Amino acid sequence: MIKAQRGTKDILGDEIPTWQWILDNAKRIFQNACFQEIKTPIFEATELFARGVGDSTDIVNKEMYSFCVGGALKDSTSITLRPENTAGVVRAFIEHNLNRQSPPQKFWYFGPMFRYERPQAGRQRQFHQLGVEMFGIKEPSADAEVILSAVEFLKSIGLGDLEVELNSLGCNKCKNDYRNSIKEVLKPYLDELCDDCKMRYEKNPLRILDCKNEECQKIFELPEVKKVILADYICGDCREHFETLLEYLDELGIKYSRNKLLVRGLDYYNRTVFEIKSQNLGSQSAVCGGGRYDGLVEMLGGVPTPAIGFAMGVERLYTIVNKIEQNKTDYFVVSQNTKEALKLARKLREDNKTADFDMQGRKWVKQLEKASKVAKYAILLGEDEINQGFYSVKNLSTGEQVKINNLKELC
Ligand code: HAM
Repeated sequence: MIKAQRGTKDILGDEIPTWQWILDNAKRIFQNACFQEIKTPIFEATELFARGVGDSTDIVNKEMYSFCVGGALKDSTSITLRPENTAGVVRAFIEHNLNRQSPPQKFWYFGPMFRYERPQAGRQRQFHQLGVEMFGIKEPSADAEVILSAVEFLKSIGLGDLEVELNSLGCNKCKNDYRNSIKEVLKPYLDELCDDCKMRYEKNPLRILDCKNEECQKIFELPEVKKVILADYICGDCREHFETLLEYLDELGIKYSRNKLLVRGLDYYNRTVFEIKSQNLGSQSAVCGGGRYDGLVEMLGGVPTPAIGFAMGVERLYTIVNKIEQNKTDYFVVSQNTKEALKLARKLREDNKTADFDMQGRKWVKQLEKASKVAKYAILLGEDEINQGFYSVKNLSTGEQVKINNLKELC
């Protein structure tokens, strides 16, 4: 029997409503923030990723699905199934002269990506990303706007308590100086580093900081090495940019932590980089990764244009949403009539449903807020319902509300 390829997955009927709900929320949140949808092809010239993502990255070196069309003919071209979508959106931005519209130019996208990785939980060879890319604004307000959109979207699908990890890589000059000091301090230990780090030492020293190998980690912990790794190396302008961003995030009440080792696995980043992680996901904990890439448009042949964006793995979002849903109570009775609420909770439990209610008969809005955090459905029991003998049942994922006359009609 022919089976699906390793690292790929069929998405079947019972999973579709949750997928659709995640996408509907993305569309609503991103469009409310004035991002326009963009759809780019799933394959592009290999050169786009080699130059854009960087030929020293794992993605380009080890993980691309590249093939030649035109066979052995002289004009055969190498094309690649997109491993990510920032390079493709930048290509489209340049090709269609989208810089002529007044900035910011804001785009969001959804679609499949392809990376030849070792499949494991949370890591597939074909997976889907939802993302945004914003062009034209160098000020930290753009960084705040993009992070805010990510956080608002995650909140909208019930993942409000994730923490944002942030770092600033600085501008090209800061990055170069840092690279050189990392190389210098690690030089005496070069033979002891793992093979990947030896390669990174030459091509992409910042990526060494991401290495999880225990022997390498021991070297990073040596006091003289640690001091260089954790040094505050960014210049005055980059520091001001970063600090202003942090002020905006404080103002917005977005929780974050600074992770000086956060460098990200793609070459195009400068200044702000960020990831959003979930404890629910085990080792592949990042649901979202992004950052600024002020040099990429120019590097791919466009006019210099600052830019920033992020992408999220939809399979990972789906896993968390599902886990949260499974742990939720079936029904939360929303009512200010405590006697009726108690009786209804008892009836539901007798029917083998999990049910809860507000024991303090608090305000309607407070009860609804609580219900949407802990339950799949709210049963609204107001005066009309009690007097006329019906129930209003609200699906707390979709917001859909129906009237029923008998509890047997509950699913
Ligand atoms: P990335 O960190 O490579 O960044 O991927 C973003 C997200 O895609 C990850 O946080 C993860 O949730 C998901 N992801 C990545 N690889 C896999 C995989 N093999 N299986 C399942 N999910 C995966 C980028 O792709 C950048 N283009 C993000 C960006 C946009 N930066 C600026 N703009």
